[in-house]
Amino acid sequence: MEMLKKLFSLEGKVVVITGGAQGIGKAVAEHIAAVGGEIVIIDQQVEKAEETAFEIGQKYQRKTFAVGADVTKPEEVALAIEKADREMGKLDLLFNNAGIVLQKPVVELNPEEWRKVIDVNLNGIFFVAQAFGRYLIERNKDGAIVNTASMSGTIVNYPQQQASYNASKAGVVQLTKSLAVEWADKGIRVNSISPGYIFTELTSFVREDWRALWKELTPFKRMGKPEELAGAVIYLLSESASFATGTDLIIDGGFTIV
Ligand SMILES: NC(=O)c1ccc[n+]([C@@H]2O[C@H](COP(=O)([O-])OP(=O)(O)OC[C@H]3O[C@@H](n4cnc5c(N)ncnc54)[C@H](O)[C@@H]3O)[C@@H](O)[C@H]2O)c1
Repeated sequence: MEMLKKLFSLEGKVVVITGGAQGIGKAVAEHIAAVGGEIVIIDQQVEKAEETAFEIGQKYQRKTFAVGADVTKPEEVALAIEKADREMGKLDLLFNNAGIVLQKPVVELNPEEWRKVIDVNLNGIFFVAQAFGRYLIERNKDGAIVNTASMSGTIVNYPQQQASYNASKAGVVQLTKSLAVEWADKGIRVNSISPGYIFTELTSFVREDWRALWKELTPFKRMGKPEELAGAVIYLLSESASFATGTDLIIDGGFTIV
């Protein structure tokens, strides 16, 4: 019964969302606010993050805060966490979501391009998780983290060639499991979501013929909407998932099962 009252509620929780200025992060932030959470957006697009935080705050009458940081810079991340804590009074949960994609054949990829994708998608996820884990552990606080991986951590996409992205996301899945075990005795749960093709700013610039093929290859015959990931993130962050850690929830319209 106690569980039922708390089912999918984030009432009173302060949730940090990286990459929350737009796309999946923004849609999930809005849904988190709808189920009672207060929101901190960390994004390198500061103005857009501020607009999003303001918009969500107004709509749901919640306290929100935006702070600029590049997730590849551990000092900026630590400072952003510090500022957010000062502003909000506490931090409870993390949706670690900022990421980029690069579609380019391996033979044409230069070292900077490879490094950039790994830096944002894997190192960035690590630096934010590390800073947030330190924050919780120093305060002896329980908490939960959801990292955004991708189905590309499990399968190889087609026809686009994006080895750096795929490798970075496979890294996020395994990092999630490693953190889950390392922090299990600290009361910190760490899980990941692996979306399939979702229509956001990230995928909106992709060639039309590729997008048509993606839909064809997905049993649901369509791309997902960012808000279709919100329930999964809220579940994994909430007390409803109190026995779930190290899991990767694939949400892909059936793409990876055929
Ligand atoms: N859209 C999809 O089809 C899809 C599928 C699977 C996984 N994902 C993953 O979901 C996450 C969100 O993707 P999206 O589609 O919403 O993309 P998006 O481009 O719409 O949003 C990404 C956000 O991350 C921010 N960001 C990028 N690099 C950053 C950095 N170095 N520091 C701070 N912020 C940074 C951007 O400013 C942006 O607001 C990414 O990790 C992406 O890999 C997306």
